[in-house]
Parts: sequence; C-alpha cells; structure tokens
Amino acid sequence: MRGMQIPSDHPLLLRIVDDLAARGWSQQNIFLPETLTLELAAECHRRAAEGELAPAAVGRGASQEIREGIRGDHIQWLEPGQVESCDRYLGLMDSLRLAMNRGLYLGLEDFESHFALYPPGAFYLKHVDRFRDDDRRMVSAVLYLNQAWLPEHGGQLRMYLDVGVEYDVVPTGGCLVVFLSGEVPHEVLPATRDRLSLTGWFRRRGNEPF
Ligand code: OGA
Ligand code: MN
Repeated sequence: MRGMQIPSDHPLLLRIVDDLAARGWSQQNIFLPETLTLELAAECHRRAAEGELAPAAVGRGASQEIREGIRGDHIQWLEPGQVESCDRYLGLMDSLRLAMNRGLYLGLEDFESHFALYPPGAFYLKHVDRFRDDDRRMVSAVLYLNQAWLPEHGGQLRMYLDVGVEYDVVPTGGCLVVFLSGEVPHEVLPATRDRLSLTGWFRRRGNEPF
C-alpha cells in the first residue's frame, strides 16, 4: 500500500494499543514527524482557500443538518490517491488499524477521515462519536496540525473520562489522540485562531441485512 511506512508492531502503535486496553484512550504528543505535520497543515489551508471545506453537519442520512450552535467546524472528507501527504497519513492509520486488530480483536475493517478547520470562536458541544442507529464507529483518532499552539489560544479537546474527571488536550501539531468512540464523551472548546486537524474513525463491519 502506498504511504505505508511503519510496521504494525512499532512501539508507538503498541503503546496506543496498550493504553486503549487499559483505559480506553491514548495521547501521543509526537506521533507525526514535523515535516509531515507541516505538509498536512499546508494541504488543509490550501483546501480551505480553494473553498473545498464545507460546514459540517450533525446527524446522519436524511436527518443531517448544519447547526453551528452544536458544531462550527468546516470539513472535507479524505479520499486516497489525491496527494502524497494524505496518503502517508492514511498509511499510518492503516498500520494503527492492524495493530489494534492484532492487540484488541476489534475487527476494524475501514477508516474514514476528514480535515477539520474550526474558525475562531467555533466549537463542538459535548457528544460521543457514535450514532444511535449506526454503531460501526469503534475508535476515534484526532491528529492536530497546529503550529506553535499555546494553551491561551483555547481550542482544547475536553474528554470526560469518568464521573467528575475531565482531561484537556492542547491541539498541538503532531499530537494524536485516540479513544473508544462509544465510551468517551468529549467536546471542542472555542479558540482564538484557526484550529486544524485530521479526524477519523476506525469502523467495523455493519450488520446489513444482505
Ligand atoms: C469530532 C471531534 C475533536 C477534536 O470531530 O467528532 O470530536 O479535537 N473532534 O477536533
Ligand atoms: Mn467527536
């Protein structure tokens, strides 16, 4: 596969698998090499400038709607075979998928992901990444693409890990956060500058009737 560059038994991937098994989430501050982070950030900026990002919808299928009072990011779904940087990202995520299947027996079959840009002031209210009528999303992965992000810029990912236990991630470039989609409620706090990420979901096969 084009883009594949680390084996699925790489220590970094095994650490994520161990974290998921032990507590349902993982944070890797230095997941991406800086050059790739910069290339992906440039690609996200380019797509935004070309008008390729669109306001994200909430809900699924026919009930999808734009509700900026719930989420205010602009997104574009990723397709393989467009640019090398994105294919390298998809290759890494595929290695992670194999590592999770080997270590956690999750039976993950595919990965869907999008660029996301939150303009200043945009947020995403507390939610879980699983739809009521579709439980295929098993594991969420958010990769941040922001240069020189400071805590005072806001934009934290706030995870609700347990009753009364909140944990904030500063969306610094190269940092990857992975969590079980159905088990970790989370929200995105508003920021004072554009906030860029690649967000994706590992999915298992659905129970289609045919
Ligand atoms: C999402 C989401 C978190 C983030 O897109 O579902 O929760 O930190 N993103 O961008
Ligand atoms: Mn989410």
